[in-house]
Amino acid sequence: MRDYQSEYTRKTKTSAKIFAKSLKLHVNGVSHNIRFYEPYPFVVKSSSGKNLVDVDNNKYTDYWMGHWSLILGHSPKNIKESLKKQIEKSWMYGTVNEQTIKLSELISKAVPVAEKIRYVTSGTEATMYAVRLARSVTGKKVIAKIDGGWHGYTSDLLKSVNWPFTESESSGVVNEEEIISIPYNNLEESLRILKKYAKNLAGVIIEPVLGGGGCIPATREYLQGIQEFIHNNKSLFILDEIVTGFRFRYGCLYPTMKLDPDIVTLGKIVGGGMAIGVMCGKKEIMEHADTTGKKKSERSYVGGGTFSANPISMTSGYSTLNYLKSKKSIYSKINLLGEYARKEIEKTFDGRVAVTGKGSLFMTHFLKENITKITNSSDVAKCDLQMLQKYHFKMIVNDGIFFLPGKLGAISDSHTKEDIKKIVKASENF
Ligand SMILES: Cc1ncc(COP(=O)(O)O)c(C=O)c1O
Repeated sequence: MRDYQSEYTRKTKTSAKIFAKSLKLHVNGVSHNIRFYEPYPFVVKSSSGKNLVDVDNNKYTDYWMGHWSLILGHSPKNIKESLKKQIEKSWMYGTVNEQTIKLSELISKAVPVAEKIRYVTSGTEATMYAVRLARSVTGKKVIAKIDGGWHGYTSDLLKSVNWPFTESESSGVVNEEEIISIPYNNLEESLRILKKYAKNLAGVIIEPVLGGGGCIPATREYLQGIQEFIHNNKSLFILDEIVTGFRFRYGCLYPTMKLDPDIVTLGKIVGGGMAIGVMCGKKEIMEHADTTGKKKSERSYVGGGTFSANPISMTSGYSTLNYLKSKKSIYSKINLLGEYARKEIEKTFDGRVAVTGKGSLFMTHFLKENITKITNSSDVAKCDLQMLQKYHFKMIVNDGIFFLPGKLGAISDSHTKEDIKKIVKASENF
């Protein structure tokens, strides 16, 4: 195999210098652990449409797309125009504003369970509050999550993220025994575990397509089975649609799977590339966080923070959703491109990979002898992860294609079939 590392070093000299400075100033040189990859990440200068440009003027067709938040591509013109107008007025009020109401009207129409909404500035906060609310409503402590499920850095949910899911993910986390973990798409085993904790079970939090855990859709039977148990047990069903909300259709995934979640968390796309997290759900549950008239012991204290519902995030989210609503054909276009990518990449590798995903999200897994099918994060962990890193790194160096090494790719409206064909070609060469 070619020495892609020295080629990378040669092509990214300015990035190397700037990243050396970054290393002095920041832990690991980054502010999100996954943004680091060996030997060092390139430093971005600008982005537009499907492209990222680094400080050495290398151009990459981007499939990381801002942690999968940029469904319309980088800096789309119409969103930029509405943001410019808002910036002329102000970028921070710290008070009630109409931009929030406009975005909430769109969300509540498209996501029927969003009878009440609270905004925060990250998905991490949204899931943190969702868990607190579930505990407060039910008066119980235990939250079940999925092996490999990623819901952000919240202390509560920083458990069983990485295979084999038995070791603590971090020191400094307390009460880990109150978070339990169940295997994705394995209903029998999941129910066995849930039953064991049923008495003190406040709720379960699940992604309908495992994102960080390997881009794996849940089966409808699995989610419905978990939900049935949870509701019979008078616990809460929290669906984390931070990745999947407005990704495959205008709205969430749950109605297409005939699910009835109590709380839904959103983020990424609904902020149109600006900082956002959303916690929404059934009125009687969300109103448990109402601070007017309830005793402290009877309500959940759910905040939002200094920058919650700031006019920039609200405007960016509103303009993005409004555009998606007026041009729903975007979904059929990008969903088809995803299908094409999955099929063609699998064909190219001739049985040696499985490309998982749904709609415009896809991820390549290099299979090993004992693993032929990917249904959960354990399967992902048993694949050839080093090969995946090499494959993604080779595309960065050789093909001007950027996947954050080891992570799933997201197709945006700015991508074309030609772009996917380039991935296929790059896969052939690999
Ligand atoms: C499913 C899911 N939930 C929550 C989060 C956390 O969101 P944020 O990174 O905005 O805190 C993520 C982030 O990738 C996610 O994928």
